[in-house]
Amino acid sequence: KAEVVAMDAEHLDMEAIQKAGKILKEGGLVAFPTETVYGLGGNALDPKASMKIYAAKGRPSDNPLIVHIADIDDLAKITTEIPKGARILAEKYWPGPLTMILPKADIVPKETTGGLDSVAVRFPSDRIAQELIKAAGGFVAAPSANTSGRPSPTMAEHVEEDLGDAIEMIIDGGQVGIGLESTIVDFTEDVPVVLRPGYISLEMLKDTLGDVRMDRGLLITDSSVHPKAPGMKYRHYAPKADLSIVEGPQDEVIACINRLTREAASTGLKTGIIATDETKDQYADGLVLSIGSREEEETIAHHLYGVLRDFDEAQVNVIYSEAFYTPRMGQAIMNRLLKAAGHKIIKTQEEEK
Ligand code: TXA
Ligand code: MG
Repeated sequence: KAEVVAMDAEHLDMEAIQKAGKILKEGGLVAFPTETVYGLGGNALDPKASMKIYAAKGRPSDNPLIVHIADIDDLAKITTEIPKGARILAEKYWPGPLTMILPKADIVPKETTGGLDSVAVRFPSDRIAQELIKAAGGFVAAPSANTSGRPSPTMAEHVEEDLGDAIEMIIDGGQVGIGLESTIVDFTEDVPVVLRPGYISLEMLKDTLGDVRMDRGLLITDSSVHPKAPGMKYRHYAPKADLSIVEGPQDEVIACINRLTREAASTGLKTGIIATDETKDQYADGLVLSIGSREEEETIAHHLYGVLRDFDEAQVNVIYSEAFYTPRMGQAIMNRLLKAAGHKIIKTQEEEK
């Protein structure tokens, strides 16, 4: 059973961090907070540690891991080429919720990169994460610390639920800040490509780099075009219930969800509704959870995975969700929500041609 150690960024427990670093150096696994979601760490330069990570998560070993660093100069040690755009992004957004894909150096084992010649690198801003990475020798491979297929963990309790029996230690740093995984930008092609949207939006990247595009596999949901990041093709972040997203003008969405909930109840199904602070009082039946406020889109990102886990716990059978195409993080929020829903969308009105 994993030892759980609580601390906060203002009061680091350096003794516990040294102990965790030692576990990692010796090939063990430690879960830790980052500003995005909790990570499941192992020594990135040790192929056996990476194999342990895949096993603990139940993750296919062709789905590469992100290598976390805590010193910008370490980027050059695990890559063979750093294009100008990548240097600019590192300067601007590191430490922070940005992952970059670059050609890998030989010291990074193929086990860590899922067999690829490129490596994903991130320098997190969370102080606990930074100190742990340093204590572990500088290179920590860490996917999100959830069982493969479950919503990513935004609290240590989520990690305990999924991996408590499979790893040595969990550092509990409280709730994470952002709540959605980092933005991934691929620099192995001519033009940088966003493989996963996140807190740092496509528009922000365009402002800095000029030419950037979105991976076609993310925009086209048709099964003939696969996303380039292997992890983005799986039906991820999935709640146990059947989730659908209802789109349309707000009053129609509310009426539609109320009708669907009534129908579900009449057949004996238990329904969950993902609402917002602004709309939650307008739903008549079902278990209504507010995901946050449309006025503050960060609150929606922050609660998404927790709400999906809450519905699992409540054992609802069906979930209806409003859509959240908010100005800045909408792309990232809807990317995760659509995946959780297996792209099931109910439109309140057919588009007028
Ligand atoms: O915010 C985050 O990035 C969190 C925290 C813990 O840092 N980590 C995270 O890792 O989300 P994970 O393993 O859950 O997601 C990594 C994603 C997967 O979709 C994977 O396929 C993709 O990154 N990826 C990793 N290396 C890649 C590579 N060389 N080429 C393409 N995609 C890659
Ligand atoms: Mg993940």
